[in-house]
Amino acid sequence: MASTSSITIPSPADFHVHLREGAMSEVVTPHVRVGGIDVAYVMPNLTPPIITTAHALSYQAHLQSLSPKTTFLMTLYLHPSITPAEIQKAAAAGIRGVKSYPRGVTTNSDGGIENYEDYYEVFGAMEKSGLVLNLHGEVPSDAERGICVLNAEETFLQHLFKIHKAFPKLRIVLEHATTAAAVEAVKKCGPTVACSITPHHLSLIVDDWAGQPFNFCKPVAKYPSDRKALQDVVASGHPQFFLGSDSAPHPSLSKTTSSPCHGCAAGIYTSPILLPLLANLLESFGALDKLAGFASLNGRKFYGLETEGLKGVEVRRVAEKDGGDLVKRYGFGKEGGEVVTFWEGKKLGWEVVRNE
Ligand code: NCD
Ligand code: ZN
Repeated sequence: MASTSSITIPSPADFHVHLREGAMSEVVTPHVRVGGIDVAYVMPNLTPPIITTAHALSYQAHLQSLSPKTTFLMTLYLHPSITPAEIQKAAAAGIRGVKSYPRGVTTNSDGGIENYEDYYEVFGAMEKSGLVLNLHGEVPSDAERGICVLNAEETFLQHLFKIHKAFPKLRIVLEHATTAAAVEAVKKCGPTVACSITPHHLSLIVDDWAGQPFNFCKPVAKYPSDRKALQDVVASGHPQFFLGSDSAPHPSLSKTTSSPCHGCAAGIYTSPILLPLLANLLESFGALDKLAGFASLNGRKFYGLETEGLKGVEVRRVAEKDGGDLVKRYGFGKEGGEVVTFWEGKKLGWEVVRNE
């Protein structure tokens, strides 16, 4: 049977992306579109984090100036200073969600939360005004309690169940799931709960990041059986599962200059290659026909975005003999900064074609 040579995705959307600030942002923000994506759901973990509607809107305007054709959907960072009144204001201003980071588990999460019940009033206001709760689903490591990066997600799932039970109509996204247990938990919760999945977690297992800083992100990639569960749920086309790349650029020096007392920055950069990378990966586990659902329609439906009459973005197989360009790194700023892209030096075999 001839293999598929082209797929057109209705206005692809990435429901979890880090676009940073300053010189880094100037380079990575336009890459969303280069990677074939029209809609970016933007994470709020800047320094300082985005905890007011005004800050989210000024950041949105700045991103828009860097990439005028991309649609940026904004989030707030769950924080003690956020009140139900701020939630109403955010909803009225078109902000879509609130991201919760448990304290200290990942990049810029020092202001993260410790006890979800402290936020029940805020969650109630979100449920009422239709804002989505985006959960970074890991508990902080705690050697006394036997918790480390390998079981931090599974241990978190009790919080997902509890919040969902208390707020059954609140739309919740368990972000960047990495385990079979998370997939089952999300299915069990039903249609108000969904799950974003990254391309790198469809590709990596523990062995790929242990000793390789450019494959290190939070949550870390887990066991082969976990990766298989993520691939299987994508291949099934399940509507509660969709693309959130968690593309998280870091200066390459902060990935490689770790020392015994200074760790490696967590985050994998995929924005500029996103749709071709996904086509490559989904084809590798027989799910190419699910690309449109995964990279557009499932997430759009969950978030209540348009699903009809959308402009298509084509991802096309590159002619066999050249296989396309090698994935490359990018410079930023005036001091020779670099950001290294996932799969640097490989060929993806697919490219984005915009018919406009
Ligand atoms: C993200 C970042 O660098 O902002 N890092 C990561 O490893 N995923 C933060 C996050 O989403 O956890
Ligand atoms: Zn993230």
